[in-house]
Amino acid sequence: MKIANRLNSIPMSGIRKMFDLASPDSINLGLGEPDLSPPAAAIEGMCEASRKGLNKYGPTAGIMPLRDAVAKHYSRYAPIEGKNVMITPSGSSALLEVTQAMIDPGDEVLVPSPGFVIYGPHAVLAGGKDVYYKLTDGDFQPDIDDIQSKITKKTTMLVINNPCNPTGGTLTEESFKALCDIASDNDITIMADEVYDSFVYEGKHVSFLSQLDKAVVVGGFSKMMAVTGWRMGFVVSDEKVMDDLIKMQYHVCASPNMPAMYGILNALPTIDSYLEEARKIFKRRRDLIVKRINEIDGMHIDVPKGAFYAFPSYAYDIRSADFAMALVKAGLICSPGSAFGPYGENHLRFSYAADETKINKGMDILSETAKRISRK
Ligand SMILES: Cc1ncc(COP(=O)(O)O)c(C=O)c1O
Repeated sequence: MKIANRLNSIPMSGIRKMFDLASPDSINLGLGEPDLSPPAAAIEGMCEASRKGLNKYGPTAGIMPLRDAVAKHYSRYAPIEGKNVMITPSGSSALLEVTQAMIDPGDEVLVPSPGFVIYGPHAVLAGGKDVYYKLTDGDFQPDIDDIQSKITKKTTMLVINNPCNPTGGTLTEESFKALCDIASDNDITIMADEVYDSFVYEGKHVSFLSQLDKAVVVGGFSKMMAVTGWRMGFVVSDEKVMDDLIKMQYHVCASPNMPAMYGILNALPTIDSYLEEARKIFKRRRDLIVKRINEIDGMHIDVPKGAFYAFPSYAYDIRSADFAMALVKAGLICSPGSAFGPYGENHLRFSYAADETKINKGMDILSETAKRISRK
């Protein structure tokens, strides 16, 4: 059977490959998946909805009370309303739907690297071209000069991820302003992926929700509520664009998961205290992993301010895929920097959404493996 060329032209994720090679008792710092329990209210709300018979199709854009609750939760950044929000079957599908709705064949899409693995492939699947821009070393801000040098007449979209996977970087006010100017000056739409907005440990989250004239914002509940398996996300846009996004979603899934929407709705109004606790836990783990990495000769990381990833650089003569493979063989799963686009090499990504015992064991393996590699 024939497979479409546009699918043939994109690779399988370099993150998933590592899992296939790992043994069951490996330390897993490869997954971007919180190990916390979801809020009890979310589980109760979902079960209750299902028991009450809410198991049928729902409205394409999601149930209105949840759209309103999302708008209320995010009104801390901008005065958005429920009509600006569409609930989606995951942040991933929100990203795909936005690209399918907004990119034409031949359009160029500026994609961050190191960056989340699906932006480039989504641009290609929509018939566009993925053009990678660099993040700066150390604090991983979008490199404004590099972005400007890559803008052409065909550039229609700029993807921003804040806080960032895999770097843990958070956008400064200065970067934010520069990116807004670039979008306005060149009539480019920003697709802002803010699924880690709840996980900022220092400073404030800078959100593109205040810029809906030029930005479409994708968010998610997977990380916020530790419900990666529920597949629940959302997109926020200007009302003018929303009808088109809803049309797109109708053709993708008709409507999102009904019981899960009621679960999220039951937990969202009181989520702040849950998130405060989650941030305390992740911040402790972050401090531990940063300290352990910086104790290793030849490895370095600046303290990441957001998400739950450490993305250290190393000074050994080995490709990140081979380094990650050596770690998998020694019992530690992580992701090679090369999985995150052309500017990810010479780094490894470790998720610290795992407990401190696992982080310590993982860092013992990293330290021994790094020593071995540096002697070669
Ligand atoms: C930056 C980023 N965006 C979006 C997603 C998608 O999350 P989900 O599809 O679980 O909502 C992820 C998942 O790892 C991510 O890291």
